[in-house]
Amino acid sequence: MLKTHNCGELRVEHAGQAVVLAGWVNRQRDQGGVIFIDLRDRWGITQVVVNAADAPAAHAIASDARSEYVLQVSGQVRVRPEGTSNADLATGDIEVVAQDIRLLNASKTPPFYINKDEKIDEARRMQYRYLDLRRPAMQDNIVLRHRMVKFMRDYLDQQGFIEVETPILFKTTPEGARDFLVPSRLQPGKFYALPQSPQQLKQLLMVAGYERYFQIARCFRDEDLRGERQPEFTQLDLEMSFVERDDVISLVEGMITALTETVVPHKRLLWKPFPRITYTEVMEKYGSDKPDLRYGLEAVDISDLAGKSGFAVFTSNVADGKPVKAMRVPGAAAVSGTQLRKDTADLETLVRGVGAKGLAWMALPVDENEEVKGPVGKYFTIEQKLELIERLGAQGGDLILFLSDKREIVYNAVDILRRTLAEKLNLADPDTLAFFWVIDFPLFLWDEENQRWDPSQHMFTLPMPEDIPLLDTDPGKARGTQYDLICNGYETGGGSIRIHDRALQEKIFPLIGQTMEHAKEQFGHMLEAFEYGTPPHGGIACGVDRLAMLFASVPNIREVIAFPKTQTGSDLMAHAPSPAEPGQLEELGIAVVVEDETEVEKSS
Ligand code: AMO
Ligand code: AMP
Repeated sequence: MLKTHNCGELRVEHAGQAVVLAGWVNRQRDQGGVIFIDLRDRWGITQVVVNAADAPAAHAIASDARSEYVLQVSGQVRVRPEGTSNADLATGDIEVVAQDIRLLNASKTPPFYINKDEKIDEARRMQYRYLDLRRPAMQDNIVLRHRMVKFMRDYLDQQGFIEVETPILFKTTPEGARDFLVPSRLQPGKFYALPQSPQQLKQLLMVAGYERYFQIARCFRDEDLRGERQPEFTQLDLEMSFVERDDVISLVEGMITALTETVVPHKRLLWKPFPRITYTEVMEKYGSDKPDLRYGLEAVDISDLAGKSGFAVFTSNVADGKPVKAMRVPGAAAVSGTQLRKDTADLETLVRGVGAKGLAWMALPVDENEEVKGPVGKYFTIEQKLELIERLGAQGGDLILFLSDKREIVYNAVDILRRTLAEKLNLADPDTLAFFWVIDFPLFLWDEENQRWDPSQHMFTLPMPEDIPLLDTDPGKARGTQYDLICNGYETGGGSIRIHDRALQEKIFPLIGQTMEHAKEQFGHMLEAFEYGTPPHGGIACGVDRLAMLFASVPNIREVIAFPKTQTGSDLMAHAPSPAEPGQLEELGIAVVVEDETEVEKSS
């Protein structure tokens, strides 16, 4: 080893010891006869002192050393002189007096500061990712991710799970995204698909009798990228035999709770146990199947009340079966009249953006003797207003917002209002984790464009047993055994109990618009396996990147992935994707036709 200690471990009790450190120059201060170097490695920073009189050769090297030079320093630990301790550094009570310094490698001036936590253009960070990853904040994220995965592996091992690797070169898997295809050289004209998840393989491992499987699994999905989506990402994937919905939920909840308390003890779990809320209830209250529950801003259905008001929009909508919802925004009306008009106009523009026809509001005065303000107050009687205030638990100074439209539009408007208001009013505590389960999803969602049912999770999800007869009569009403794990507005996991019976599985295909022929071609191996003693089974996959993002309190998953892709799917460091060599294409029997090169270039 070129070092005896790391740069974060020396303390007062090491005083007098001869040590060798190696790392990067975080900062060099030349005070003439004495040079101070802050030497940095993954574990911390140690101050090195080089004295020209005592160590002239070392002093000469130190004098030339610039930021990010790699040095090996041999010297002696000494307690810092009285009054020069640095309380911000773990090693701040000592320094290493250098006797000898070796320059291991010089460094060009980096394109951005590594030793300062400041905003850097993301494209630059991606181009020089190895320097970006050297920044302590990024190292913390990557180490945190390692701790999480290590914890998951140990925890599941203790619960009798074994990790099994499944292939990356496989066949199309039905998670609803586009596949990445890999051409086969040995069988020209044929393609592998990269797995969107190990879904089928883990089910087949249950058929094979493994009972408790997990995998830290890389998944590939060719879909439009967002802050919480990457084309390749990592799941904690698991599957269990002889279980029911509650068994999988309790196991995962136990693991996530222990994981949080161990790896990020400074975070607060808002609930233990995690609440379970039905799909219908989350949609009705929060307008989203992955709401952030760190704050309220619940939508309350007041259709019955509004239907009796004097506001024609509400009464006619209610008569048409469209809901009227009200949301209480605490304290938002305790502002000047001008500000209130501006705020509500901005919110109205926001909801119009998602198709709503308007946003009615009522501002409750802080002073009880004043009148309720807002465009629709006049349409409600005093009794109706009191009833409304009571139902919402509203208080003086609160703003009440009203929405009435088609149900889907109301959902979207509620969702965007909640997100926007929470940010504006700073309602979401960054150190709180509000995990909860969404259950009782509809098994299918109607695909208007293709006029068929789409699985709301995937085609292997078992319907709720009591809803199986509905598959023949009213498939839209059938609920699935699916469960999603939501935290702070992100879907961090999803799974279900599976169909383990060929006849039931075959019933699903025509409903989702697959011919039996096509289904057999794609999933024949699954159908066949179901005929050889398949145990009832179920599982889940948790998004490791998304959990790491929440644990690290960063705004997107690129911050917790060592080498992520940009929003357009590029690696700006290695320049991927890139054209293939003509010879490679020829071997694969592939001809490339790019319709409009300028379009391709624009988007990359
Ligand atoms: P699902 O498709 O819900 O389920 O994925 C499980 C979890 O993986 C994470 N995730 C992603 N993370 C980053 N980038 C992406 N593009 C991305 N897509 C998904 C989410 C999500 O909750 N086979 C099923 C699981 C099962 O039924 O057991 C599956 O893959 O956190
Ligand atoms: P009006 O009486 O037309 O001036 O409208 C009064 C208020 O009702 C305005 O603030 C509108 O934005 C609002 N409004 C109109 N249509 C709807 C609707 N469908 N849902 C909620 N508010 C509405």
